[in-house]
Amino acid sequence: MCGIFGIITLKPRAIGRDLVAGGKRLSYRGYDSVGCAVISNGNIDLRKDVGKIDEVSKTLNFSEMHGDMGVMQLRWATFGAPSKRNAQPHLDCNGDMVGAHNGNIVNTPQLMEQFIREGHTIRSTNDGELCIHAVEKYYDKGHGMVESIRKAYDDLKGDYAFIIFSNREKRLYAVKKGSGLVIGIGKDEMYCSSDLPSILPLTKKIVFIKDGEIASLSYKEVKLFRISDGREIEAKIVKYRESPEYAKKGGYEHFMLKEIHEQPVVAEDLVELLDDSKYVDKFLDVMRGSDKVFLVGCGSSYHACLVGSYYFGNIAKKTVIPVVAPQFISQYGHTVDDKTCVVLVSQSGETKDVLNALNYAKGKTDKILGVMNVIGSTLMNSSKVYLPLAAGYEVSVPATKTFLNQCIMFLYLAKKMRGESCEDMRKVSNLIKKTVNSTDGACRKIAAYLKKWDELYSLGYGSTHGIAKEAALKIKEITYSHCEGMYSSEFKHGPLSAVRRGYPVLFISSPKDVDVMVSHINEVTCRGGRAIVIAEQSESILKNASELIQLPHSNDYIAPILATIPAQLIAYYMSTGRGINPDFPRNLSKTITVD
Ligand code: M6R
Repeated sequence: MCGIFGIITLKPRAIGRDLVAGGKRLSYRGYDSVGCAVISNGNIDLRKDVGKIDEVSKTLNFSEMHGDMGVMQLRWATFGAPSKRNAQPHLDCNGDMVGAHNGNIVNTPQLMEQFIREGHTIRSTNDGELCIHAVEKYYDKGHGMVESIRKAYDDLKGDYAFIIFSNREKRLYAVKKGSGLVIGIGKDEMYCSSDLPSILPLTKKIVFIKDGEIASLSYKEVKLFRISDGREIEAKIVKYRESPEYAKKGGYEHFMLKEIHEQPVVAEDLVELLDDSKYVDKFLDVMRGSDKVFLVGCGSSYHACLVGSYYFGNIAKKTVIPVVAPQFISQYGHTVDDKTCVVLVSQSGETKDVLNALNYAKGKTDKILGVMNVIGSTLMNSSKVYLPLAAGYEVSVPATKTFLNQCIMFLYLAKKMRGESCEDMRKVSNLIKKTVNSTDGACRKIAAYLKKWDELYSLGYGSTHGIAKEAALKIKEITYSHCEGMYSSEFKHGPLSAVRRGYPVLFISSPKDVDVMVSHINEVTCRGGRAIVIAEQSESILKNASELIQLPHSNDYIAPILATIPAQLIAYYMSTGRGINPDFPRNLSKTITVD
């Protein structure tokens, strides 16, 4: 989803190069166009086009762009088709102010009409342009920039962040309302970006901006203003110690494969972190002291919530309701009260649907818990207690190691809640390693068969229901084939009619559910279908499955976690077998910051 990256420096220099580097670090979010604007000797140099950052920056020579203030934007189209004129940044009417946004201005049609009526020169159909005109409108009437942004803030509905500057003053301004925005303090320069990891290679001195705040940056100072009353507030500088593991494929062909192979290490890191954390008990105390608990997430994170709900129910005997974030308000909103605990689960901590649920719940309960991977994210900053996933930087759009760590986290918490020892969680890392190594060959082989099919099913039962849905999501996301993930018992209630000779159905079973799974497997094989089973070896599976992708021996709760790995590998090899780059699937973005 869109990303913005701004720089202001003491002396003019070739900041284009740094803006491109910053933009590249945001490119994991997904985008279709790229643009860069800098101010040099009072003139705005603006270049933009549709395409990937490497191509566009080369064709338009971004790295030669010289100046002391600049902004880079990567656009993921919502308002206005991907085109050169809709690409960001945008100019105001006279071309003396420039800026770019990230997010959604939901009253775009009304504002567009209004600005045209008021005589503004509108050059695109993109909502980002409206942010600039909304500020210009007040600035040209003589208000200062901070005051103009405050007024524009009321006019611009929706969730967004934008960076803006004018050739009339040497300051860069940024505002946050619902979308991510962080400031980095460098030596004689300042940075401003949609996310923290993109700034960390430049500086470890960070200022987090909250919703409803405006940052006014010079090369040497950060001033923060509150939108509500215009008062200046303290800009707290946080010294960041951790160094992000940066986007290097480390010999792997794709980040996705690298991240799958990192799973043993990040699983071990997570268990160690949880063993040592004083926040685990605090987190569980909030859950225990609540009448109702919801686990809320989207996509893969929601699938982890399904797995988590199984663990809490079966191990800790605590009912927790998994819910897909955009459904939370409409379905359960009215039931949320001060005895309700809402656990928000997200890799990025910036997913708009999750933040909507968070903001809704905040008005009704203070029992807001967060599980996220990105440190410094909005979710982290808004949670009463949070637990980090400790999975390191995940570049590839498909979630792999973060999903696995979400499941491990929930298993750990459920055991703790039950009062069980978590000693055996230390073995998980090694079992993951074994699974990656022992299933790779079988997954390649089966992917070669599956890639010929444009549709398939992925079925799970009990603890593996969430894993089957996750397997289906991975396959859909990076192979562009349809794969439906569902409860295996439901298959006979309709989808079974799809089965014909060779029709592939993926089954994922825990040791406990083998008997019922075998019955579901037979419903497929007796009709000529091909049942590919991910499970531990057992006589009945060997007798009934068309293929077995064998998991190392573990237990009923760890097996679903291990089963995720062959599912990820199958999706990966199907994707690459079709010539698709799984790291950046079409139309998708790593962080979905729109409704
Ligand atoms: O950052 P989040 O975990 O909140 O993201 C939620 C989904 O967009 C995400 O899990 C998505 O489904 C994955 N790319 C799937 O691999």
